Amino acid sequence: MANALPHSLLNGAIVPTNDARISPLDRGFLFGDGIYEVVPVYAGKPLRLSAHFDRLQDGLDALEIANPYSRARWAELVHELIASNGGGDMGVYLEVSRGAGKGRDFLPEPDMQPTVFGFCFPITPPKPELLARGIAAATLEDIRWQRCDIKSIALVGPVMLKMEAKRRGADEAILVRGERLAEGSSSAVFVVKNGRIATPPASHERLPSITRLVVGDVLDALKLPLEVREVRRGELPAADEIWIASSTREALPVTSLDGKAVGEGGPGPVWRRVFDEFQALKQREAG
Ligand code: PDD
Repeated sequence: MANALPHSLLNGAIVPTNDARISPLDRGFLFGDGIYEVVPVYAGKPLRLSAHFDRLQDGLDALEIANPYSRARWAELVHELIASNGGGDMGVYLEVSRGAGKGRDFLPEPDMQPTVFGFCFPITPPKPELLARGIAAATLEDIRWQRCDIKSIALVGPVMLKMEAKRRGADEAILVRGERLAEGSSSAVFVVKNGRIATPPASHERLPSITRLVVGDVLDALKLPLEVREVRRGELPAADEIWIASSTREALPVTSLDGKAVGEGGPGPVWRRVFDEFQALKQREAG
């Protein structure tokens, strides 16, 4: 990930990123007690901001943290943050933790004031070499918890999985729970076999990815049906194409899995169509 841009959001104010300070007693720091969002921004305009706010609200509800701002206020703050960093293409990271307590009790104190932190980082369109080559992935057993539908800031599981994937020469871990495909360590996953495209359904085992919805719309525009169903681990090495999708990486082709070629070993023709239509959608919605 690219470095943070100079201006951040802290509890309602835009501040220099290097001066932003929070308490070491913040429950985000002590317990990973909070949620986050990553919103892609193109030409200064956030893509699917309201879907990100919906998921933020779902996460806060699950953790029983009161949302500190109205939708309108959130939108205002996000736009101020983007503008303070000069607009353009960027990712916006937003975090809401339960806030700082007087000490370290597992049970939250009553009437805690959530901490809100946001920063931006540049995102660039995938480089031509990357689009020509695709990425490598490693299949790993999912060691995360049972509520992966919550975009929790407690990310030590994915950190360990990413490090293991890197040791195996891969850029992403594709996670399985026994025989079932879960998701990527930080992405949604799609598989293509004989022209049929599938992705697993929403469940506690995976994050409800916003990019997955965008890819769904792209497939609709292309009149390509999407099967939402459980995908078996055994389908992965047999797939013609595998794609990962996320807010920071759009949809990328996985061309090698566990050191073996996926399909022909290069980005597949279905992915190519999706990629082109994805760019058109970005232009329409945010460009
Ligand atoms: N991660 N699944 C997991 C576990 C993720 O962490 C992510 C995204 C996704 C894709 O979700 P979305 O399409 O809404 O970005 C799926 C973000 C980008 C991150 O943590 O940086």
